[in-house]
Amino acid sequence: MKARIAVLPGDGIGPEVIAEGVRCLRALAERHGHELILTELPFGGAAIDLAGTPLPEDTLAACLQADAVLLGAIGGPKWSAPEATVRPEQGLLALRRALGVYANLRPVKVHPALLGASTLKPQVLEGVDLLFVRELTGGIYFGEKRREPDSATDVCTYTVAEIERIVRAAARLAQKRRRKLVSIDKSNVLETSRLWRAVATRIMRTEFPQIALEHMLVDSAAMHLIRRPSDFDVLVTENMFGDILTDEASMLAGSLGLLPSASLGEGTRGLYEPIHGSAPDIAGRGIANPCGTLLSVALLLRHSLGLEREAAALERAVSAAIEQGARTPDIAAKGARAISTREVGEAVLAKL
Ligand code: IPM
Ligand code: MN
Repeated sequence: MKARIAVLPGDGIGPEVIAEGVRCLRALAERHGHELILTELPFGGAAIDLAGTPLPEDTLAACLQADAVLLGAIGGPKWSAPEATVRPEQGLLALRRALGVYANLRPVKVHPALLGASTLKPQVLEGVDLLFVRELTGGIYFGEKRREPDSATDVCTYTVAEIERIVRAAARLAQKRRRKLVSIDKSNVLETSRLWRAVATRIMRTEFPQIALEHMLVDSAAMHLIRRPSDFDVLVTENMFGDILTDEASMLAGSLGLLPSASLGEGTRGLYEPIHGSAPDIAGRGIANPCGTLLSVALLLRHSLGLEREAAALERAVSAAIEQGARTPDIAAKGARAISTREVGEAVLAKL
């Protein structure tokens, strides 16, 4: 097959992990006879330095024309002064909006060999295999923002249509898994959450009666996620709750550096990025964990290119490499030698 992929390395450790993702992607394409056209584009802080804006027109145009977008990470102290008016994060939100990728899939699986890498007890983590579906293009991230001398305002809005489509997306995924959906909100306080709960209840009752739906308040969900994580299958929630809970959930897997994500809209075009940030504290040292990016590449192959076989092969290769001890410092076993970003990439390539 032939496909066009826009590659946005971004800032901090972004370029380091993306380099490994691109190498694996090229290797797979060559091996299976696919013609991939990869175009690297400036984005985030790097684009602010270059063009004065985090999402230059050419970058956006290339992303809109691509079959998929692969993104590293953005942001850093250089661009986050409180008085800054142009921020890398604005570019990311604008890109998600422009691509219409409202459904952010964040799978969390515990690798048996990494049961000891988490700060949580191994017996709590056994069998964890859950999927967060985070609403990505609405809510407080996109509402009106105001700043007065002695106050500030962020508006949170959700429409019925926005809630319907994300609940449907989550339900379709739950259908193919264990048919259990937990919808997370704060309906005891927020009006948007009361609407969310009403819409989720109606959609599930009328369109997906075979899926068990449970509502959970976000504070309680945060607790249950670490108390009994293996009980969860698919979780659906609004933008900011999803952001917070998935960082929490990453510790089930053992490291923020392990988690991939796929952001999807109506078609097959998607945006793929590890859920971690640009990690300025370790940038340039070659020790960032590339697994979140490699697993994001697998999601790209699966969801945007329809290459299930290649996707599964890459996931198996990552898993086998980890099993054999190919680990960056964030997940290295006690006393074991940690290896570099590049070496982990190489180990995964060898498995491929
Ligand atoms: C994420 C990140 C972003 C978000 C930031 C960088 C804007 O934390 O993808 O989880 O909050 O969505
Ligand atoms: Mn986040």
